[in-house]
Amino acid sequence: MVKVLFVCLGNICRSPLAEGVVRRKLAETDLDIAVESAGTSDWHVGEPPDDRAREAAEKRGTDMSGQIARQVTREDFERFDHILAMDRQNLSVLERMAPPEHLEKLGLFLDFAPDLDTREVPDPYWGGSGQFDTVLDMIEAAADGLIRHIDAAEPRR
Ligand code: 4NP
Repeated sequence: MVKVLFVCLGNICRSPLAEGVVRRKLAETDLDIAVESAGTSDWHVGEPPDDRAREAAEKRGTDMSGQIARQVTREDFERFDHILAMDRQNLSVLERMAPPEHLEKLGLFLDFAPDLDTREVPDPYWGGSGQFDTVLDMIEAAADGLIRHIDAAEPRR
């Protein structure tokens, strides 16, 4: 099984959205991929996703119930095959934390959406609810790219 961890700052907006969207898309495939998300900060540990994220996701059929914010741990670098940050700030935190032998697992989630003109998912926390739809559009595109990438790289079950 391939394991993917999505990482943002608070683990209440962007990375839980990525986790929820990728999990929904995976349910339509026969791929054996496990997804989780975490934050580089501990600010919202134990909290469910932001209401605005949950509402925007639900409108598109993505269920985020059961998700609870947690912080990235050192064990994550062992457990996951891909650790994908939502922006460069969080990627650089991961790069400083990661044991050198696991650096190759790190990347930007939007690298799987090469058609977008940005590599970073903007932080929607301080924005309006429209920001969550913009963020979801980016996440949907990268989710499709990620699933295609893993599908092409992995042997069939
Ligand atoms: P996230 O968004 O990193 O996408 O979960 C944020 C959530 C909370 C805060 C910042 C960004 N905050 O400052 O509390």
